[in-house]
Amino acid sequence: MASNDELPRIVVLISGSGSNLQALIDATQTPRKLQAKIVGVISNRQKAYGLQRAQQAGIPTETVSLKKFKDQGKTREDFDESVATLIHTMQPDLIVLAGWMHILSPTFLAHFPNNVMNLHPALPGQFDGAHAIERAFEAYQQGRISETGIMVHKVIADVDRGQVILQQPIPILPDDTLETLEDRIHKEEHKIIVQGAQVFLDELACQL
Ligand code: GAR
Repeated sequence: MASNDELPRIVVLISGSGSNLQALIDATQTPRKLQAKIVGVISNRQKAYGLQRAQQAGIPTETVSLKKFKDQGKTREDFDESVATLIHTMQPDLIVLAGWMHILSPTFLAHFPNNVMNLHPALPGQFDGAHAIERAFEAYQQGRISETGIMVHKVIADVDRGQVILQQPIPILPDDTLETLEDRIHKEEHKIIVQGAQVFLDELACQL
């Protein structure tokens, strides 16, 4: 087995609760699940609970603020450039967006064209962007869909698009409420984000 220093390095970007970050942390502590170490967690919200999860696991954290940049008369591109610079200092092999609710511009992706993975609570091409689960539940109630899903995909400039790494349909049940559907989706996300990160890392290793 690889020593800790030889393990692939993951940086995780979050905005909220960080339950998917927790799944990644737990999986790195069980090497057969995810052979990697999380070397940094970055949040664009100071109050994100995921920051506490990282700190409890002894992972360095950083908070970044688009608002601060804008208040200083700087642009969204300036912000993305500074996030990229920060991430470079952490020397990641893979960057995982785990509930990161900020659209990364081409400026950012020029730094990391090939190694950013996003988790999204919908099937490819459906319900891009925020509130995907609510919108899927609404579509179900209107009889427009019978199932939804989750996916992990490579990040490109188009929001929640890019080559799919793994996807999984999730049925919507007649007695589902938004809460029960969300719970079922989150439980499955906690597995697919770990599996997807390992698949992506294996793929990147093959390209070396
Ligand atoms: C997850 O459901 C994730 O799929 C979603 O944010 C949630 C974060 O939960 N991401 C998106 O909607 C991206 N477009 P968490 O903070 O508990 O991991």
